[in-house]
Amino acid sequence: MATATAPGKVILFGEHAVVYGRPAIAAPVSQLRATASVTANVGAGVRLLAPDLGIDIAMAEAATDDPLAAALRQVMKATGVSRLPDLSLTVTSQIPVASGLGSGAAIAAAIIRAAADFLGQGALATPEWVSALTYEVEKIHHGTPSGIDNTVVVYERPVYFVKQHPANKIETFPVAVPIRLLIADTGTRSATKAVVAAVRQQWQAETERFERLFDGCGQLAEGARVAIQQGDLAGIGRLMNENQRLLQLMNVSSGELDRLVKAARASGALGAKLSGAGRGGNMIALVTLDREESVRQSLVANGASQVISSVIA
Ligand code: PMV
Repeated sequence: MATATAPGKVILFGEHAVVYGRPAIAAPVSQLRATASVTANVGAGVRLLAPDLGIDIAMAEAATDDPLAAALRQVMKATGVSRLPDLSLTVTSQIPVASGLGSGAAIAAAIIRAAADFLGQGALATPEWVSALTYEVEKIHHGTPSGIDNTVVVYERPVYFVKQHPANKIETFPVAVPIRLLIADTGTRSATKAVVAAVRQQWQAETERFERLFDGCGQLAEGARVAIQQGDLAGIGRLMNENQRLLQLMNVSSGELDRLVKAARASGALGAKLSGAGRGGNMIALVTLDREESVRQSLVANGASQVISSVIA
C-alpha cells in the first residue's frame, strides 16, 4: 500500500493577474489535506474510490475528464507504464471543492505521489515532477491554469510565482513574522474555469483597462513580498485591501464576499480580500491574535458557512 497527502492553499496576492504573467503570492493551508491511498486488489481491475462522495467505479468506466483517472494516466505516461496492475485508489479530502482552496490540485498531487510510490517509481517524484503532472490534470478543469495552485500545494511553502516561458519563476522567501489568517467560506461554490473565462472576455473587450488592473495586482504582489519579508503586518493588510479593490473592478467579487470583507475589517482585521477565483468560495482576513475571536464571530454573523484559522510562517 502507498499513501500520500497534499495540502490546500490560499492565494494571498495576484489571483487572475497571475494568468496574464503578473507575479502572485500563495501559501499552503497545511491543516486541510487531500489523501490518496493505492492498494493492490488482485482480480478487481483498477478501481477508483471516493467514499465521501459515494464513488466506487472501475477506471475503464470513468468519464474522460474524471480527475482521479486523469491523475493515474499522467503517472502511467510519465513512468512508461502502459498497463496498471489491479489496484484500488481511494481518495479523501478535507478541502472544500470549488471554493478557491486548491482542492483539485491537492487531490491530483496526492494521487500522483501515491501512485508513483505504489509502482516503485517514488524516486521520480521530485517536487518538479509532481507539480508538472499535477498541472496537466489541472488543465482539464481549469482550461488555462497559471500553475500557481499545483506549485504551492506540491512545494508546501509560501511561494512567489510568475508564469513565464520556458520555465515559471518559483521563489520561496522568508516570512519574518507569522501571518495569521482567518479563511471564511461564503458557502457558494464557484467554478474557477468559468470565472477565468469571464475575466478573459472582459480583457478582450477592454484590453488596456484590464492590463492596467493586472499591472496593479502585480505591483501589489511585489510590495507584499517585501512587506512579508520585513514582518510589516499593517502593510500586508493595506495591500490586501488594495488587491480586493482591484478584484472588485475585475467583477470577480460578489455581494457575499464584499460583505465578509467589510465585516472582517470592521471587527479589527488588518486587511481582507477574496482568495482564488472569486464569485463565491473563500475570503481571507489578516488578524492579530487578540482580534482573531472578534473577527471570527463577525464573519459567522455575516454569513460565513465555515471559518478556518491558518498561520503562515
Ligand atoms: O479558484 P482557485 O483556487 O482554483 O484559484 C484560481 C486562481 C486563478 O488565478 C484565478 C486562476 C489560476 O490559474 O491562477
